[in-house]
Amino acid sequence: MNAQFHFVQILTYILILAFGVTIGVIFSFYLKDCNFSLQFTQLSLSSFPRTPPLPPTTIEPEVYNETKTRTQIQTQTQTQTQTQIDTHVGLKEFLKPPHVVHDMDDEELLWRASMSAKIPDYPFDRVPKVAFMFLTRGPVFLAPLWEQFFKGHEGYYSIYVHSNPSYNASRPESPVFQARRIPSKEVEWGNVNMVEAERRLLANALLDISNQRFVLLSESCIPLFNFSTIYSYLMNSTQNYVMAFDDPSPVGRGRYSIQMLPEISLKQWRKGYQWFEMDRGLALDVVSDRKYFPVFQEYCRGSCYADEHYLPTYVSIKFWEGNSNRSLTWVDWSKGGPHPSKFLKSDITVKFLESLRNHKCKYNGDSTNACFLFARKFAPSTLSKLIKIAPMVMHF
Ligand SMILES: *[C@@H]1O[C@H](CO)[C@@H](O)[C@H](O)[C@H]1NC(C)=O
Ligand SMILES: *[C@@H]1O[C@H](CO)[C@@H](O)[C@H](O)[C@H]1NC(C)=O
Ligand SMILES: *[C@@H]1O[C@H](CO)[C@@H](O)[C@H](O)[C@H]1NC(C)=O
Ligand SMILES: *[C@@H]1O[C@H](CO)[C@@H](O)[C@H](O)[C@H]1NC(C)=O
Ligand SMILES: *[C@@H]1O[C@H](CO)[C@@H](O)[C@H](O)[C@H]1NC(C)=O
Repeated sequence: MNAQFHFVQILTYILILAFGVTIGVIFSFYLKDCNFSLQFTQLSLSSFPRTPPLPPTTIEPEVYNETKTRTQIQTQTQTQTQTQIDTHVGLKEFLKPPHVVHDMDDEELLWRASMSAKIPDYPFDRVPKVAFMFLTRGPVFLAPLWEQFFKGHEGYYSIYVHSNPSYNASRPESPVFQARRIPSKEVEWGNVNMVEAERRLLANALLDISNQRFVLLSESCIPLFNFSTIYSYLMNSTQNYVMAFDDPSPVGRGRYSIQMLPEISLKQWRKGYQWFEMDRGLALDVVSDRKYFPVFQEYCRGSCYADEHYLPTYVSIKFWEGNSNRSLTWVDWSKGGPHPSKFLKSDITVKFLESLRNHKCKYNGDSTNACFLFARKFAPSTLSKLIKIAPMVMHF
């Protein structure tokens, strides 16, 4: 009896011991696990701000190195591309526009530029900028006038220059135009590659999320108003300025080709001067167009002059509702011929410039006296006189 009682007692102790050990083992495992995951979260939290999601772009400006060192170019570029976006690290890196000189080919560039956010509101303070896109042969010879125009408005504009690749700047470019040349290709007068260059300019400008309005200019263009007037005019505008009209003559409808069917019919064919101004939404659609532009590349060659027909036709087919059908750039075609009049030093007078600033027009549905914001074509010889007259007439 006694021995049996002892045996039961010992068995009970053993069972209690085993139970205790088991609990202890399970508990210690649980604690270890907990500790481990705690350490893990701490690690990932502390390492987050130290690893930037994207490496900084270190593309060397190869072809366009002119006489500047890389650091000079970088500091120069920063003043213009600097977006006043005060936001979190993750977003800041994502929003940083790439270097103006990059190594993307056209296909890669257009693809990247065609991206847009599906949420229309920006979750940060975005100061909208005007992208001034210069399509030139060689130097922007009226640069000192533009320099005067842009002075004091840093952060509200970006400049892009597309010039002939064979042009190598012998003179140093003026400060605001320095290091603003995008990778460019050959452009011939009247050729469809002129429109390719315009799309290349738009795509480069779209890479900066702050650019809101896009204006195409040439080296012979001048501004007719001061920066603040032009900035307000564009930012407050509810319309795009792509000139478009139906011209029944041989230099209008006569340039249409029946092979453009079924994408483009004669009824849809439009004409207009090349010098456009548009908002970000339309610019995105222009660089993303893969239906109409290939038709122009194929069937609008030679004396078809794609630069006078592609945008007017494309915009009139798909986006006519937001288009004013007029250009913001004044030009004198009154003398006839294939080229508009060119103005020389002797033509530049206060009266002449005043007259360009005063035209009746519709703006956001109301009538206005400021119809044209820019004018062309001004010869290099006009520069000194323009600079002298500008403060008096144009207020800059
Ligand atoms: C780039 O600049 C260096 C000197 O800074 C010069 O030796 C070189 O020839 C330049 N390259 C081009 C393509 O202009
Ligand atoms: C560009 O530079 C090359 C070599 O320095 C020179 O032969 C050529 O004439 C230059 N082109 C222009 C348009 O200045
Ligand atoms: C800009 O020009 C307008 C007239 O077009 C003038 O009223 C305004 O004062 C000018 N602004 C500056 C900063 O000079
Ligand atoms: C738009 O116009 C209003 C006045 O009509 C003005 O107060 C505002 O500053 C303008 N916006 C810009 C961006 O200039
Ligand atoms: C622009 O032209 C189109 C025809 O292509 C027309 O439907 C539209 O009403 C015009 N817009 C304005 C503002 O005149």
